[in-house]
Amino acid sequence: MGTADPNLAVQAAKMVVNDVSAIDVNSGCPKHFSIHSGMGAALLKTPDKLVSILTSLVDQVGDPFNIPISVKIRLLETEEKTLSLVERLVTTGIKCLTIHCRTTPMRPREPSIRTSLKKISDTCHKAGVMCLLNGDIEGFKDLDHVIEKYGVDGAMIARAAEANPSCFNSKGQIPWNEIIREYFEYCKKFDNHVVNTKFCLARMIPGKSQLYQKVAQSKTMEQIDDALNNLTEDDMNKFIHIFKSPLTLLEEQVKQEELRAKNQMLKRSAEDIIEPSKRVRFI
Ligand SMILES: Cc1cc2nc3c(=O)[nH]c(=O)nc-3n(C[C@H](O)[C@H](O)[C@H](O)COP(=O)(O)O)c2cc1C
Repeated sequence: MGTADPNLAVQAAKMVVNDVSAIDVNSGCPKHFSIHSGMGAALLKTPDKLVSILTSLVDQVGDPFNIPISVKIRLLETEEKTLSLVERLVTTGIKCLTIHCRTTPMRPREPSIRTSLKKISDTCHKAGVMCLLNGDIEGFKDLDHVIEKYGVDGAMIARAAEANPSCFNSKGQIPWNEIIREYFEYCKKFDNHVVNTKFCLARMIPGKSQLYQKVAQSKTMEQIDDALNNLTEDDMNKFIHIFKSPLTLLEEQVKQEELRAKNQMLKRSAEDIIEPSKRVRFI
């Protein structure tokens, strides 16, 4: 739930309480649409408000409806500040706290910082609150390691799940060329919109393959179906990507896009130097 007001949070929670298994307060989103009105990561700067939101939700929704209330936060600038915020939050009656191991200004491609994680999970556990880790978890295979090393109870996954939704599979990940077909079958079954289907498939298909281009150019579900049913040799060669981790794949796509943008900029500066009319502009 994105919220900046305890009363509205309670009203909203009551509308969905019978349809959900838990309610998590988002205190980590750094995007403008969240922070401009005091929601998401902006709540990290107004801890009194965040505590009041959580306490109201616990008292008026969590306890009476027997549903867990939880919160997801980011790291603050120092370990001391993070721990003192966690200490306050765990006394509100929440059942779980997720720590996204990045500070608000950090971008997703910057490696997450886990140096304070053990202390954070200890602080949660002392108050009887579960602690989840978020940031750079690639799938089920990472869980044992982080549980053992940091004492966390589990993890949340975002980008790796976009790149390959089978990352939650305890028996191992399904290769991307198989998972896209399975995913597409669900899209057809549940009448998913073509734009959203394309968006999600684009995260699963390696960016350099012809299939990626074909799916990106598709305007209908039938055209996507055709593309998936007619894989070229080039696409087959790209299947080698299944041995790379989803986050590595995403990283490579981002790097390619950055490189393309840089090349365009260089091309434009070269044109500026060469074209005499523009040379005059610099003088
Ligand atoms: C498509 C997308 C949407 C997201 N939306 C939210 C959001 O609404 N609220 C939030 O707190 N974080 C959001 N995030 C951030 C993730 O929850 C997560 O904190 C971040 O991606 C780091 O985890 P990861 O390394 O597993 O991707 C979003 C991330 C992605 C990729």
